[in-house]
Amino acid sequence: MDTTQLQRTVAAMVQAPKGLLAADESNPTIARRFASIGLDSNEQNRRAWRDVLLTAPALADSVSGVILYEETLGQQADDGTPFPKLLEQRGIVPGVKVDKGKVPLANAPGDEVTEGLDGLAGRLQRYREQGARFAKWRAVYNVSPTLPSRLAVKENAHALARYAAICQNEGFVPIVEPEVLIDGDHTIERCREVTEQVLRAVFHALDRQRVVLEAMLLKPSMVLPGKGGERATPEAVAQHTVAVLRRTVPAAVPGVFFLSGGQSPEEATANLAAMNRLGPQPWVLSFSYARALQEPALAAWRGDAANAVAAQQALVHRARMNARAREGRYQPAMENEAGR
Ligand code: 13P
Repeated sequence: MDTTQLQRTVAAMVQAPKGLLAADESNPTIARRFASIGLDSNEQNRRAWRDVLLTAPALADSVSGVILYEETLGQQADDGTPFPKLLEQRGIVPGVKVDKGKVPLANAPGDEVTEGLDGLAGRLQRYREQGARFAKWRAVYNVSPTLPSRLAVKENAHALARYAAICQNEGFVPIVEPEVLIDGDHTIERCREVTEQVLRAVFHALDRQRVVLEAMLLKPSMVLPGKGGERATPEAVAQHTVAVLRRTVPAAVPGVFFLSGGQSPEEATANLAAMNRLGPQPWVLSFSYARALQEPALAAWRGDAANAVAAQQALVHRARMNARAREGRYQPAMENEAGR
C-alpha cells in the first residue's frame, strides 16, 4: 500500500493548533439535539444547521477537519456549493462517519457492538467521489463492575481494526473511536482500568489487521468518573488519561483527538488544556468534539436564520478556546474575553 496520500491527509489534520469538528450526528441523534431547542428534524433543518456550522467565519483558524454525516456529504450550502467542496476551499479536510451504529452484542447482556463492515469498501468509493478523505467509526463500551465483558472488548476491537484496514486500502485515513461511556456512577479509577483494557485490545487488533499506525488517528474518551459520581479536577483527568495513553498508544500514531462524551463545553476544554500542560507527548493531543463545540451554538441558533451569526460566533469561540487548550494556554478567564 502506498501511504503517501494518507500521510498528506494526516499532516493536514494534525496542523497546530487545530482540532476537528464532529458534525456527524446520525438522523436519530440530531433529532434528539434539535428536540432540545424545540426544532423538528427534517432534511431542510439539518441542512440549514450544517450550513451555519460549516460557513462560520474563521473556523479554519482552529479547525482542520470536519466529520460529516452521509446525508451532509450530498447536500449543498446556501450558495449551491456542495459541503465537501466548501470545506476544501476553506482549507478544511472533509471526512465522514461510516459506521452504522450500535446494536446489543449477542450473548453478552449490557454490551453493545458496532455494525457497518458489510459493503464498506463500496460505500467508501462513493464517499470518495463526494469528496471525503477520512472516515470515522465509533465503538462504545458500557461501564459497570462487570461491563464491558471480555467478549465486547475483543469484538469491538476487531471491528474497529477491520474498518481501519478497509479505509486505508480505499485511500481514507481512519479515525478509530473507542468510547468508554460516562453513564453510571463508577470511579475514575474504574474508567481508567476499562480504558486501558480497551486501548490495549484495539492496538493489538490494529496490528493483526496490518493497519499502518502512521496513517490513522485515535479518537478516545478521556478518563473520567461516571456522570453519577464525584467530579474530578482537570489535573486528575489529565494524569489518568495521559498515563493510560502512554501505556497503550504507540508513538507512531500521529494524533489523539478526544471526543467530549457528555462533558460540559468548558470542562472538555479545561481537561484538554491540563493534558497539554503535562509536557511533550509522542502524539498531538487535540479535540474532535461534537457536543462540546456545538451545544452553545445550537442554543444560540434555535432554528432561526436571524440567529445564524450569533451561533457561528459561539461555535468559533469554543473552537478557539480548544485550540488554545491544545497548546496548553487556555485559562477559564479567557471565556469572557472581548470579541467572542
Ligand atoms: P461528542 O464530542 O459529543 O462526544 O461526540 C463526538 C463524536 O464524534 C461521537 O461519536
